[in-house]
Amino acid sequence: MRIDILTVLPELLESPLNHSIIKRAKEKKIVDIHIHNIRDFSKDKHKRVDDYAYSGEAGMVMTIEPIALAIESLTKQRKYDEIIYTSPDGERYNQKTANTLSIKKNIIILCGHYKGIDQRVREHYINREISIGDYVLTGGELAAAVICDSIVRLIPGVISDETSALTDSFQDNLLSPPVYTRPEVYNGWRVPDILLSGNIKEIEKWRFEQAIERTKKLRPDLLEE
Ligand code: ADE
Repeated sequence: MRIDILTVLPELLESPLNHSIIKRAKEKKIVDIHIHNIRDFSKDKHKRVDDYAYSGEAGMVMTIEPIALAIESLTKQRKYDEIIYTSPDGERYNQKTANTLSIKKNIIILCGHYKGIDQRVREHYINREISIGDYVLTGGELAAAVICDSIVRLIPGVISDETSALTDSFQDNLLSPPVYTRPEVYNGWRVPDILLSGNIKEIEKWRFEQAIERTKKLRPDLLEE
């Protein structure tokens, strides 16, 4: 899979996309992530990528030309399955969307900034707008990092035990059951006996019941879906 991210703040993405599972996926050549600075496509002598809104409201708006040139330089080279714009008014991101995106071959993620981007970019270049939640971030970079992280871990071969991504919370609309490790007793707090019993069938049953119970308590909305 190839992911191209367009941003005015490439530094913000460097650390989240260069550690742990994503780093390993890149090293194994399972995913190829390219970060492009939109400023490099600006024809302005000061490399500006924003301007005042015609409507006169406060806040700068990202201009169409550098973004259009950046996207066109990529789409000339290969076909993209999705051209995504990260924005608080996009569709709400969830595990289902992550699953859908993880089987794509090439995607572009455009990170929004300032007060927004010229509407013509959204109308003519973007085919999907994604919000990672009902709150406003300073820019779309953190949202792009969240999207990348959640999809890369789903690609087969990225996590060594393939089933572990499939048993994540949300994959079946259930939260994960609790987990424990050694010691058996800490401060008088014991690991549940069932987990020490060695009875795999009973442990599986317990885990399922715990998952239902936790979901009912913490996220009943998931069970309604
Ligand atoms: N940009 C600013 N806020 C955002 C959000 N909640 N989701 C995605 N992109 C954003």
